[in-house]
Amino acid sequence: MSNSLQTLQKKPIAGFDVGRLREDFPILAREVHGKPLVYLDNAASAQKPKPVLDAMAKAYAETYANVHRGAHFLSGASTVAFENARQSVRRFVNAQKVEEIIFTKGGTEAINLVASSLGATLDEGDEIILSEMEPHSNIVPWHFLRERNGVVLRWATLNTDDTFDIAAFTKLLTPRTKLVAVTHMSNVLGTITPLSEIIRLAHAAGAKVLIDGCQGAVHQPVDVQALDCDFYVGTGHKLYGPSGIGFLFGKYEHLKRMRPYQGGGEMIEAVSKDKITYNDPPHRFEAGTPPIVEAIGLGAALDYLTSLDRPGIAAHESALLAHVTEELSNIDRVRLFGLAPHKGAVTTFDIAGVHPHDVSTLLDRAGIAVRAGTHCAQPLMERLGITASTRASFALYNTHEEVEALVRGVRHVLEFFR
Ligand SMILES: Cc1ncc(COP(=O)(O)O)c(C=O)c1O
Repeated sequence: MSNSLQTLQKKPIAGFDVGRLREDFPILAREVHGKPLVYLDNAASAQKPKPVLDAMAKAYAETYANVHRGAHFLSGASTVAFENARQSVRRFVNAQKVEEIIFTKGGTEAINLVASSLGATLDEGDEIILSEMEPHSNIVPWHFLRERNGVVLRWATLNTDDTFDIAAFTKLLTPRTKLVAVTHMSNVLGTITPLSEIIRLAHAAGAKVLIDGCQGAVHQPVDVQALDCDFYVGTGHKLYGPSGIGFLFGKYEHLKRMRPYQGGGEMIEAVSKDKITYNDPPHRFEAGTPPIVEAIGLGAALDYLTSLDRPGIAAHESALLAHVTEELSNIDRVRLFGLAPHKGAVTTFDIAGVHPHDVSTLLDRAGIAVRAGTHCAQPLMERLGITASTRASFALYNTHEEVEALVRGVRHVLEFFR
């Protein structure tokens, strides 16, 4: 073990008490297969703190009714709680107006919304730039548009150290580029994308920018005004909130011009037998009964997260990442992916001669939850020259002891498949 690592492990981060934080997450106290749970599948979905569980239970127990539609007391109370949650999202991403926040059922739906509504304004031959790091949720909706409208998908590449290749990206921008859709942080490599530079270059070329923040927003503060992005996507279940809820930030000037995504109640201003007029954003994009209690849970999750010491969390997660990287890179037959110097707390690896599904099954028997497979990022797997890998992803509540448990687990896998 190197000196730097010893320093990292021994030196507590001032004011950051992971033991205290863990008490907020009831599930972390449970055992799996008779072993303490070591939950390292946070990039797939994170666990939920008590304030989220309490807010959702309270909403169902005390204020539940449909929103926006009723003149009765409960509908009013439910609407206030729901709209307060929208304010929490607004604060979390620092949007100027609350009308710029649209609730969706997740990150995937938010991207599909833009692909469908903004996509309707694109013509054959218009270009959309994606990066090689995108997960399927930020690829497939654009393929639909390629099939439907004949838009051309172009691919921003990575440097050999897994950083975003800005020089190559610059060359992709043409007068036909209408949109750049990139991830804030790769769910496989952990690479943090140089957003400000991409947005500046894209805007100079006349293109809009959508940032998929489903991973990035968990680990980094987001300021959509400072970034000047056109769209920013987030998802509740990775942000310590419930599943079934996500959000889209869109600049109001764009939202105002975009067609609705789905038709139904709420999104409409007036309907007659031969005419419809649309509601204003955000309601224009929220057809039907929204995920009311999930939105309230998301609001509670974001309020919880922002109440914590986020720089302390970031330092803690970086220390975990440094620890796991150092330990795993010292093991023969283990190959690590994601070498970018600026990366989030995700470590993806391959054990020579052992299928990732076997790796994760053996780790599971030791109570360790990791993910195995393509991580919904087949183009990236292709670039890495693999068909699958194992991913351990860290959250604010993970500990150095859990890193050590993972490393012991990996050594056991190597023994098992010797
Ligand atoms: C970077 C990224 N974008 C989008 C998504 C999809 O989000 P959701 O599960 O909310 O649809 C994921 C989920 O894995 C993701 O990692």
